[in-house]
Amino acid sequence: MKPKKTAKIIDGKKISAAILADLRRDIAMLRDKGVTPGLAVVLAGADPASEVYVKAKRRTCAEIGVESFSHDLPENCTEKRLLKLIDKLNGDSRVHGILVQLPLPRHISEKRVLEAILPEKDVDGFHPVNVGRLLNGEECFASCTPAGCQALLQRSGYDPAGKHVVIVGRSNIVGKPLAALLIQKAAGANATVTICHSRTRNIGKFTREADILVAAMGVPEFIKPRMVRKGAIVIDVGVNRIPDQTRKSGTRLVGDVAFAGVAKKARAITPVPGGVGPMTIAMLMSNTVKAACRASGNASKRT
Ligand SMILES: NC(=O)c1ccc[n+]([C@@H]2O[C@H](COP(=O)([O-])OP(=O)(O)OC[C@H]3O[C@@H](n4cnc5c(N)ncnc54)[C@H](OP(=O)(O)O)[C@@H]3O)[C@@H](O)[C@H]2O)c1
Repeated sequence: MKPKKTAKIIDGKKISAAILADLRRDIAMLRDKGVTPGLAVVLAGADPASEVYVKAKRRTCAEIGVESFSHDLPENCTEKRLLKLIDKLNGDSRVHGILVQLPLPRHISEKRVLEAILPEKDVDGFHPVNVGRLLNGEECFASCTPAGCQALLQRSGYDPAGKHVVIVGRSNIVGKPLAALLIQKAAGANATVTICHSRTRNIGKFTREADILVAAMGVPEFIKPRMVRKGAIVIDVGVNRIPDQTRKSGTRLVGDVAFAGVAKKARAITPVPGGVGPMTIAMLMSNTVKAACRASGNASKRT
């Protein structure tokens, strides 16, 4: 009997490790010139998931030689206090990038806080100036998760040029900026992009047409094998915790794609965890090094 074919696993851990290794070399070069890239990581409140993400970001900074400046504020901190901190960080020459972990406590306006960050320190790529530049195809900080998806495709040899990319999800942090990246007349882009969302009728009709399918919805295992074209490349951005009594923790992480079934149909697929997640942090580090290069007048090798 013929063995069943399964998709190639696109290993985000391995690819992000290669990116971080390249960045280490750039950082060593900057240090020789007296510049240490610095990232301010601001956490307001005690959201458990945010704490995990912030810890991972700070740990990666330490591993590659980026100086991280930690600012942990209480849940009840005022918007005024947070804006004052951003103002201080904007003026601090040791800080090349500012990351404010989202979501913020409900009484604080994310919009006002994100817009207070100087665009040249906005390494998360959420400031409207960077969003606009991204859409215009200008030099900018692209938001990290979409940039991570693009880097995954490029580094694993799946060039989106001329391909039909279908993205399920239209959020400002994933779906929309990913579409903006992939439609550019640029290397690693030149795709034909369709975006689906909760009001799209008959989503399967679109997803089945995808050469490259990106799931970014936050709905556990929504993308079933019948929704995927044979031989498609599948990028799963979703991170969902679902109950699992077989695990000691009682839960496990799954993506937005029903992995086991879809892997039998796809040509390549990202796992969850270990796919897009590590790439998001690698892109944050890349943007921080790029910001340090620009601020110090050194040429950046990273895009
Ligand atoms: N790995 C990483 O580094 C990383 C980073 C960011 C996010 N994520 C994960 O990615 C997922 C999406 O995050 P997000 O921040 O983009 O989420 P979000 O802001 O909640 O947006 C979800 C999008 O999916 C669409 N959607 C939801 N249910 C749908 C359905 N049944 N059919 C079609 N479309 C549907 C929504 O449509 P409407 O606009 O019509 O409501 C929305 O556009 C989450 O699981 C999140 O945890 C992972």
